[in-house]
Amino acid sequence: MFSREEIAKVLQEENLDRPIIVMGWVRSFRNSQFIALNDGSTNNNLQIVVNQEIIDADTIKKIATGAAIGVEGKLIASQGKGQKVEVTADKITIFGECDGEKYPLQLKNRPSLEYLREIAHLRFRTNTFGAVFRVRHALSFAIHQFFNDRGFFYLHSPIITASDAEGAGEMFRVTTLPMDNLPKNEVGEIDYSKDFFAKATNLTVSGQLEGELAATALGKVYTFGPTFRAENSNTSRHLAEFWMIEPEVAFYDIENNMDLAEDLLQSIIRYAMKHCADDLAFLNQRLEDEEKQKPQNERMEMGLLEKLEFVVNNRFERITYTDAIDILLNSAHYKKKKFQYEVKWGIDLQSEHERYLVEKHFKKPVIVTNYPKDIKAFYMRMNTDEKTVAAMDILAPGIGEIVGGSQREERLDKLIKRMDEMHVPTHEMEWYLDTRRFGSCPHAGFGLGFERMVQFVTGMTNIRDVIPFPRTPGNAA
Ligand code: 4AD
Ligand code: MG
Repeated sequence: MFSREEIAKVLQEENLDRPIIVMGWVRSFRNSQFIALNDGSTNNNLQIVVNQEIIDADTIKKIATGAAIGVEGKLIASQGKGQKVEVTADKITIFGECDGEKYPLQLKNRPSLEYLREIAHLRFRTNTFGAVFRVRHALSFAIHQFFNDRGFFYLHSPIITASDAEGAGEMFRVTTLPMDNLPKNEVGEIDYSKDFFAKATNLTVSGQLEGELAATALGKVYTFGPTFRAENSNTSRHLAEFWMIEPEVAFYDIENNMDLAEDLLQSIIRYAMKHCADDLAFLNQRLEDEEKQKPQNERMEMGLLEKLEFVVNNRFERITYTDAIDILLNSAHYKKKKFQYEVKWGIDLQSEHERYLVEKHFKKPVIVTNYPKDIKAFYMRMNTDEKTVAAMDILAPGIGEIVGGSQREERLDKLIKRMDEMHVPTHEMEWYLDTRRFGSCPHAGFGLGFERMVQFVTGMTNIRDVIPFPRTPGNAA
């Protein structure tokens, strides 16, 4: 049986001059004497001091970057600068050698994020990805804690569904039908009655509709699971497989919904700042280095930590869609024709518009409400103007839309009318309509894109770098 101490704890240790066992991977080996050892528990390495009179030459030869080793020795106060403690090795076990000639991470220069994406199976071993995935874990834990503390129930919504929750037709088909010999009906259409579920099914685009079923009985629920979208968007903010958090609450209106979303975002950022201080300090520095490569006018005004601090300490701006359009139309940016896409009431806000509002105009997260009904999903509650719906999107600096949500249409007749207008098949969604037939109540919810949240907190510019194995158009390695 192995028994080792983890480096995260060892580095904080006060009880010195005692025997210790640590295990991990060699990050560097200097002067055939100093090993920087990392075991993944923290971004920081533990210094191991190798005495050539104690450790045999054959073992020392095998201590190379990337090798997995075990060290038995003594924990002492460090003689050198840069660390409080270090370990003098009495015995070193080589678990796995690592050939420096072949190891892709044995590079003199810092490997680029693009290159690391090509070797995603190894990128966990870098400082950057170690930090990102520890922060990702902390955020996901903080999310569960946030909801648990507030009396929400975690709902496991299905991954295979027969409905299109967003009505946007961006679904991945799930089938066991033979692709090279599809059964057809009399009119030549694919006969899904012969398929595994005896109907057409797909991977879920959202757990919201199931969330509504549960919320209108359990009161407060949230989902946290993978969602899938076959949208052909090759951007730094889109994945084909991403994780979403979707709270849904009975007897909630859009104001309650906004408060909950703001509280959630601030709370989990605060958690990460408290529990991932070392990783965030590292990522802060990484981003600063990256920003230095850019021309002055494209650089972000705030560093990562400064931005997070600012976001947890300031209320989000709240404006209506109509106000947002007015701000854009009155901006110098617009008058100088600097927007690529058209600006007028009714447009879907483009990334450049969102970024202008958040980064240039308000300089903080903005909640935009009451969007035109035609650019939003069928389930959103119709406002009295009959032109806008009770939608709320949160736009974040550097990211754009991070949350999308709404108060739901709880009035059966109005919901059916919208579904008909938007060609959403009511006959296949009687189960959903039953929530409005039997004891319907006002309710609201939203979806937080988890990877966009991780991007925001880690400062990583590309969404492919905050999920372990990104799936994007043309890429599912
Ligand atoms: O705005 P969306 O499409 O809303 C829904 O799915 C609702 N059912 C949510 C709800 O009200 N329960 O998606 C919600 C969030 C977006 O704001 C964005 O952060 C993220 O999910 N998102 C994506 N993240 C990564 N890649 C994609 N392709 C994404 N599409 C949406
Ligand atoms: Mg949206």
